[in-house]
Amino acid sequence: MTTLHRPVLYQEIIHALQPKSPGRYIDGTVGAGGHARGILEACAPDGSLLGFDFDSQALALARETLAPYGKRVILAQASYLSLLETMQNLGWDMVDGIVLDLGVSSMQLDTPERGFSFQTEAPLDMRFNREVGLSAAQLINTTPEGDLADLLFEYGEEPRAKRIAKMIVQERPVMTTLQLARIVKKVYPGYSRIHPATRTFQAIRIWVNDELSVLKQALPRIVQALRPGGRLAIISFHSLEDRIVKEFLRQESKDWINPPYEKIYEVERSATLREITRRPITPGVDEIQSNPRARSAKLRVAEKL
Ligand SMILES: C[S@@+](CC[C@H](N)C(=O)[O-])C[C@H]1O[C@@H](n2cnc3c(N)ncnc32)[C@H](O)[C@@H]1O
Repeated sequence: MTTLHRPVLYQEIIHALQPKSPGRYIDGTVGAGGHARGILEACAPDGSLLGFDFDSQALALARETLAPYGKRVILAQASYLSLLETMQNLGWDMVDGIVLDLGVSSMQLDTPERGFSFQTEAPLDMRFNREVGLSAAQLINTTPEGDLADLLFEYGEEPRAKRIAKMIVQERPVMTTLQLARIVKKVYPGYSRIHPATRTFQAIRIWVNDELSVLKQALPRIVQALRPGGRLAIISFHSLEDRIVKEFLRQESKDWINPPYEKIYEVERSATLREITRRPITPGVDEIQSNPRARSAKLRVAEKL
C-alpha cells in the first residue's frame, strides 16, 4: 500500500461524516485517497465509496491506496460536479455523506511539470485535468491586460493586480513558472514572509480550472444527492472558497419567504440543511507543525434535513 501522509483534518472528517455500514459515501476530490481510506475503514464491512478526481495521476494513486477495499470502491475520472449523473449510472439513489477537500494536492504541487508551484521551473500548466481545456500559459498569453488585472484581483485578492498584469503583458510570452514568479517579484522587490507570487499563482489556478464556479454549481447538487440525515463536509483553503461554502450553508439552513434570488414570485422555502459547524473547524498546532500546508484549512459541516 502507498505510504501516505495524513490528509488535512483527517479525524475531523471522519467524525463529521460518522460513516456506518452499509452506508454510501462520496469523496468528490479523492486525490491520493487518504480521506477515502478513512471513510472506508469506518464504514466496514459493507459501506461503499464513490471517489471523483479530475486528475488521472491522482486517480492512479487512489486506485493503489484503495485496492484493499475491492468492490466497495468505485473511482471516476470526472468532476464532482457530475455526481448526480454518475450516481444515476450506478443506480445509487441517495448517499449518506459527501466530502470535498478542495484545491491542489501535495502530489500536484510537488510534481514540477504540473506547473502549480513557483518554487521549481516548469511549463505553466496548472490544469487539474491535462486532457481538457487551456493551460495557464495559453490563457495568460492571450488574455487582455484589463481582464488579467481583474482576475488577479478577484481570484487572488492581489492588491497590485494592475501592475502585475501590465508586467505580464510587457514580458509575453510567459511560458514558465519561474518566469511568472520573477515578474511578480519585480512588482514586490522587498522581502516578505510569504512569497509574493502566492496570490498570483492561486488566482491563475482558480481561473484555469474555473474552481469557484464549479463549487457554486455543485453545492445544490450535493444537497440533492444526500439522504435526510446525511452529511456534507467541505474543507476549503482560501477565503473565496470558504465564503461560498459559508453563505450557501447559511442560506440553506434558513426558512425563506421570498429568498433574495427569487425576484418575481412570492416563494416560501423550507431549510434543507442544519449547520453543524457555526464556526469552521481548523487544524490544531500539531497538525500545522507537521503539515504547514494545513494552516489555512477550514472545515464546514452540515446535515441534510
Ligand atoms: C487537496 S486534494 C484532495 C486530497 C485527498 N482528500 C486525499 O486524502 O488525498 C484535491 C484534489 O481534488 C481534485 N479536484 C479539484 N477540482 C476537482 C473537481 N472539480 N472534480 C474532481 N476533482 C477535483 C484535484 O485534482 C486534487 O487531486
